[in-house]
Amino acid sequence: THCFTKKEDGYLYCEGLKVQEVMEAVEKRPFYLYSKPQITKNVEAYKQALDGLNSVIGYAIKANNNLLILKHLKELGCGAVLVSGNELRLALLAGFDPTRCVFNGNGKLLEDLVLAAQEGVFVNIDSEFDLDNIVAAARIAGKRVNVLLRINPDVDPQVHPYVATGNKNSKFGIRNEKLQWFLDAVKSYPDELKLVGAHCHLGSTITKVDIFRDAAAIMVKFIDEIRAQGFDISYLNIGGGLGIDYYHTGAVLPTPRDLIDTVRELVKSRNLNLIIEPGRSLIANTCCFVNRVTGVKTNGTKNFIVIDGSMAELIRPSLYDAYQHIELVSPPPPDSAVSTFDVVGPVCESADFLGKNRELPAPARGSGLVVHDAGAYCMSMASTYNLKMRPPEYWVEEDGSVAKIRHGETFEDHMRLFEGLSI
Ligand code: LLP
Repeated sequence: THCFTKKEDGYLYCEGLKVQEVMEAVEKRPFYLYSKPQITKNVEAYKQALDGLNSVIGYAIKANNNLLILKHLKELGCGAVLVSGNELRLALLAGFDPTRCVFNGNGKLLEDLVLAAQEGVFVNIDSEFDLDNIVAAARIAGKRVNVLLRINPDVDPQVHPYVATGNKNSKFGIRNEKLQWFLDAVKSYPDELKLVGAHCHLGSTITKVDIFRDAAAIMVKFIDEIRAQGFDISYLNIGGGLGIDYYHTGAVLPTPRDLIDTVRELVKSRNLNLIIEPGRSLIANTCCFVNRVTGVKTNGTKNFIVIDGSMAELIRPSLYDAYQHIELVSPPPPDSAVSTFDVVGPVCESADFLGKNRELPAPARGSGLVVHDAGAYCMSMASTYNLKMRPPEYWVEEDGSVAKIRHGETFEDHMRLFEGLSI
């Protein structure tokens, strides 16, 4: 069973707790509520799926960078995938083993690469200039860097164009026609670079595992080519991207096991270590974004539920037209009729919606409304637009208690950015 469930009494529960009661116990503002046991379960599902393979689960920190969540993931044995110097610093603070971390990105900065080289993290080569910078970083750090080549297999992930990355016109990675140039370049820097593997990342929200198999088959061919030139490489990194059931329709979606099983034989046939980089499929379904209903209104043919949360705290619907399931946390008033609502925030933008055309009972003012599957790319993409400060985060622990795992940002925090300036 999933951590957030509506019971017969009409209340939404997180593990054993009524979300309504959590709302009453914590600060009165929108907040993120996670289930710690669900995080554990999601990691276990990957671990079981990977049984019998040499592998690293590189959690993609960009999906959710809460320090306590990172520490928990580290305790469970995850490595980390980083896309900035600050994500690298945070991963080190959280205690991740740097030799189980991968530094990715199409615009990695020299100073961040130096830190990566010093710490011994894997670095993906993304372009010609990136290779130059990695070589320079290796010299500054006085360390040989373990590198992987990020190759675009040009497989269509069949997702929203904003989250597709492995196609030939993508800004990420290298085109396979250039493979030889990169191999020659790596050979010419034996003191700086040690090529250990190949990487690809196809995109995000992928719901067909065939796509991973197609990509792995292409990548294994590249690995054969690279090995044929005398490189002793042992890692295949197939990136992240497994989708989740955002629609809550009960449709059967591929699981981590389905994903791993589809590439298992290929990986074994070449005696490779498999690196995977899941973000969403580890953390998205562990969290709800909890809001209060400010009021209900009708304009023209549209009904609106106005809540206190907004696109500032959760931008995926506005940015990608993403669907995230919305539910009331308590039974509606007895006289409430079900209608079609847009669920909107108070931000001064017509793009400020959390859901469109949702069939919902008209909620009472002040009652709770959640946006589901808010663990990935929600808090980590939150802004302070309209000076809506970033929300606090809580989790429900194994023993059923609620703990704050991040303070909500305050107006005072904002004003601190101006301290000491001559205003
Ligand atoms: N590895 C690389 C190289 C990536 O670029 C990403 C995500 C991942 C791993 C993790 O992918 P995941 O397993 O989470 O799908 N903000 C968008 C998603 C952007 C994904 C960016 N790259 C969203 O909210 O849907």
